[in-house]
Amino acid sequence: MTTGLFITLEGGEGAGKSTQLAYIRQRIEAADIPLHVTREPGGTPLAEQIRALLLDHREESMASDTELLLMFAARAQHLAQLIHPALARGEWVLCDRFTDATYAYQGGGRGIDFARIAVLEDWVQGELRPDLTLLLDLPVEVGMARAGQRGDLDRFEREQRDFFEHVRAAYLARAEQEPQRFRIIDASQDITGVQRQIDAVLTPLLARAGEVSA
Ligand SMILES: Nc1ncnc2c1ncn2[C@@H]1O[C@H](COP(=O)(O)OP(=O)(O)O)[C@@H](O)[C@H]1O
Ligand SMILES: [Mg+2]
Repeated sequence: MTTGLFITLEGGEGAGKSTQLAYIRQRIEAADIPLHVTREPGGTPLAEQIRALLLDHREESMASDTELLLMFAARAQHLAQLIHPALARGEWVLCDRFTDATYAYQGGGRGIDFARIAVLEDWVQGELRPDLTLLLDLPVEVGMARAGQRGDLDRFEREQRDFFEHVRAAYLARAEQEPQRFRIIDASQDITGVQRQIDAVLTPLLARAGEVSA
């Protein structure tokens, strides 16, 4: 059975994920490959409601375990409703953040043991892992300066510099552990520079997909 390709985009705040997602979408669609573009937390109406719970500010502070479990609750819904069915039909899925973000934010940022996250990952995802993960890496202060242009900061964006240093370090450690799945992109370059690096990964992939379907 041929399944579609599952591509995820990762990186800290202001790394350029949303910007490059649009570029990648356009390249994949230009190759006539059926594609779903989605995001985490979220991606289905119910999962988007969980996203709002995760990102909104409220007086009651959220326990780290609550945050972790809500992330995986949203993910379970997203997988069941969208990701698994799409991949099974042979369609590609391009997702703005996935489980590596849970390791980076809830693990690196909040300090939850990676082994506990791994238990939930196996439970919720079974064998499923992304086929390709583009990690948009850049110095924390550069990303924060870019994201700071946004007006209303969500619950994560309001974290301190130290939190984001831990997030970045956790992302890089994961990329080092799984070099076959990850491609580290230098996201501090200008937009066309980042696109060029993405092209170097994407072009051979699209060429191969074209050969398979021909
Ligand atoms: N390579 C880049 N150089 C300079 N600014 C960028 C670059 N990529 C994105 N931006 C700008 O930085 C801000 C954050 O980008 P965005 O794509 O929303 O990041 P993310 O989705 O990773 O938080 C936006 O205003 C965007 O236009
Ligand atoms: Mg974004």
